[in-house]
Amino acid sequence: IFFKNRFRPQLHYSPKKNWMNDPNGMVYYEGEYHLFYQHTPHDTEPDFDNMHWGHAVSNDLVHWEELPPAILPGEDGAIFSGSAVVDNNNTSGFFNENGSGLVAIYTNNSNSAQYGKPQVQSIAYSRDKGRTWTKYKGNPVLFPMKTLDFRDPKVFWHDESSMWVMALAVRDRIEFYISPNLKEWSFASEFGSDIAGIHRGVFECPDLLQIQVDEEPDITKWILILSVGDRNGVNPKDPEPPAGGSGMMYFIGNFDGRSFTLDDTLESLDAIRWIDYGSDFYAAVTWNGIPKEDGRKIWVGWLNNWRYATALPSKEWRGQMSIPREIQLKTYPEGIRLIQVPVSELSQLRKPIMSLQDLTIKPGSNILSDISTEKAEIIAEFEIGTAIEVGFKVRMSANQETIIGYNILKEELFIDRTKSNDIDFHPDFAAKHKAPMKPEHERIQLSIYVDWASVEVFGNKGKAIISDMIFPDLESRGLELYTLGGELKIVSLQINDLVSIWG
Ligand code: FRU
Repeated sequence: IFFKNRFRPQLHYSPKKNWMNDPNGMVYYEGEYHLFYQHTPHDTEPDFDNMHWGHAVSNDLVHWEELPPAILPGEDGAIFSGSAVVDNNNTSGFFNENGSGLVAIYTNNSNSAQYGKPQVQSIAYSRDKGRTWTKYKGNPVLFPMKTLDFRDPKVFWHDESSMWVMALAVRDRIEFYISPNLKEWSFASEFGSDIAGIHRGVFECPDLLQIQVDEEPDITKWILILSVGDRNGVNPKDPEPPAGGSGMMYFIGNFDGRSFTLDDTLESLDAIRWIDYGSDFYAAVTWNGIPKEDGRKIWVGWLNNWRYATALPSKEWRGQMSIPREIQLKTYPEGIRLIQVPVSELSQLRKPIMSLQDLTIKPGSNILSDISTEKAEIIAEFEIGTAIEVGFKVRMSANQETIIGYNILKEELFIDRTKSNDIDFHPDFAAKHKAPMKPEHERIQLSIYVDWASVEVFGNKGKAIISDMIFPDLESRGLELYTLGGELKIVSLQINDLVSIWG
């Protein structure tokens, strides 16, 4: 059947055919969530001279309808990553008395140049809910002064100053620009070039947003989110993302409409705050236009890594998005941290398989041996007892397994995909990825999404995240709960099958 081809994600967005990378232009408008994305419609390889904005819409963030590519390359060059906004007050003048519409702000990568060569920012508008787009005649609206890497504009409306703000990735810094009308932009400030240790690769796909702390309406912080590419590196001596290659980091601070300032002083910013400890979560940015009554900050990331993105063993298509996640800030003893939780809309896919409470298991047993599943949601809470390692083996068969485990001695959550089946397409793919995670009140909590080609684990209610692709055989459907070195006390365990989002 259609959409059941080998490795096809059943819970994640992927294009019907051909190449996809970064999510772009995410905006909610008149009842629809739009997801645009970097897309090469004619090839399973990225064609950087011919990048399009692919397009999908959803009314629940779960089920997606693919539409024809939205913004096409032309004389102006390829259409690289960017954002879209709802121009509610017609500041751009594109919508006359017809009311609001959508404006996309993206990077043109010049055709004659190689990847990373002169880049400019352009805009296009849509008066029909994102179905058709007109490029602005005055493009480009922003050109670089000196640097070659100058891309991925994320634009939002800043209420207090009544201005549009753009965060732009400019090689080793983020530059902020402001505009009253999306057409004329002026430089406001820059961030990051002077922070030592964060410049292993070029910055890409920034996001800047104001977000509540501990869901308290009166306490908010600004967070700056960056993706760090491993091509065209800036300082190879700086630390790599935890799982290598492409990774994401964040900073907490304040934004006054012109400049972003860090909460921590530079001395106390001891370690980079990584967003995901897996190999495959990149270029995530949040949806614009979410109604105030909802107020959530929601994103998807590209479930991939540039190290091996062009070598994936899937055939008709290449590239998938993560599940949509809500991001929040939460206060812990060590400070405020970014957490991520799967959006609540996903619960509509649940078909419960089993649920139990208060059970102690011994090493060598497998209480899940009767269950057979190639996609599932596993929600578990364990008490730290005498065991030294506990976890789940998923997508299991005689010679295949992916382990989602917790090493109690090292206080580490991990995914081990070294025996996940198709691993030889790139030397870095077979690996065990670890995230630091301490027990909370002597307990650990795990929420796991398993799909035909990925595993995403949210540890301790979204504090420690690992996102990894896997390519197991469809027949590998075994499931195991194991404990090593001692007994494991299960506080609660729920396993749900999840109905394919493609019906
Ligand atoms: C990030 C990125 C962006 C660029 C796009 C090109 O993955 O390199 O910086 O705009 O991909 O497809």
